[in-house]
Amino acid sequence: MKPHVTCLMISSVDGRLHPSRYTKSPDGTREEWSAVYEGLHDAMSADAWLVGRVTMAEMSKASAHPSVVAGPVTRPVHIAATADSYAVAVDRSGKLHFDKGDIGGDHVIVLLGSNVPDAHLAELAEDGVSYVVADTAQIDLAAALDALAAHFGIRRLLLEGGGGINGSMIAAGLVDELQVLIAPALDGGDSVQGIVSHGADGLAGTVKLAFRGAKPMPHGTVLLTYDVR
Ligand SMILES: NC(=O)c1ccc[n+]([C@@H]2O[C@H](COP(=O)([O-])OP(=O)(O)OC[C@H]3O[C@@H](n4cnc5c(N)ncnc54)[C@H](OP(=O)(O)O)[C@@H]3O)[C@@H](O)[C@H]2O)c1
Repeated sequence: MKPHVTCLMISSVDGRLHPSRYTKSPDGTREEWSAVYEGLHDAMSADAWLVGRVTMAEMSKASAHPSVVAGPVTRPVHIAATADSYAVAVDRSGKLHFDKGDIGGDHVIVLLGSNVPDAHLAELAEDGVSYVVADTAQIDLAAALDALAAHFGIRRLLLEGGGGINGSMIAAGLVDELQVLIAPALDGGDSVQGIVSHGADGLAGTVKLAFRGAKPMPHGTVLLTYDVR
């Protein structure tokens, strides 16, 4: 059974996803908004957080370092460790590299497509990273979530961007709840990505949002919560 999935994002008033680009508050600050977001993340006490390949590449900047250990690799699931909290990345072709098995203390699990070479799996295993390889080159996200529940006991998962993976997960009907922390800021860039992005056609006709609440939060932020149907 898939974990309960909450998509948690910080957004500008105009829906953009790069806090470093946001206009500043009148007193010249904006770092506080990310701290409010981090507080929400911690308060949710989820078993895992999941991000797209682009977002994880901003957190793990290691470069490729082929394994020195010859021998068979394990497919489809390698469990390097079990943990109280997991950091999950979707990386269908094996572009991400790690120099250790955790991000900020959360054990790393990578979800990969079937075409990923054995050499990459060996590198991940040597770095202490867990992984799940899909049956197909394109990852079936529903099956991947089932595997996270079955093999790692993940029951509650935070989907934390970026827009690309949020769009894929919402389009696949896998997101139960959307929580957006609106910062009192604008971006305004013509071609800057939104917090959800799903190709030219977008998501019209695929999902509906049901409003649950709006809560004023510190530093002029507002938390909007919706059920995703
Ligand atoms: N405001 C916030 O709260 C927040 C939170 C997180 C991130 N961000 C920002 O968001 C930006 C990145 O957003 P992004 O949309 O470019 O990247 P992203 O969502 O982090 O990653 C997109 C990548 O994930 C993989 N992916 C997406 N859908 C997939 C699917 N159905 N199956 C398999 N793989 C899939 C693809 O990797 P491949 O191309 O390798 O196939 C795709 O290119 C970053 O700059 C980050 O700072 C903001």
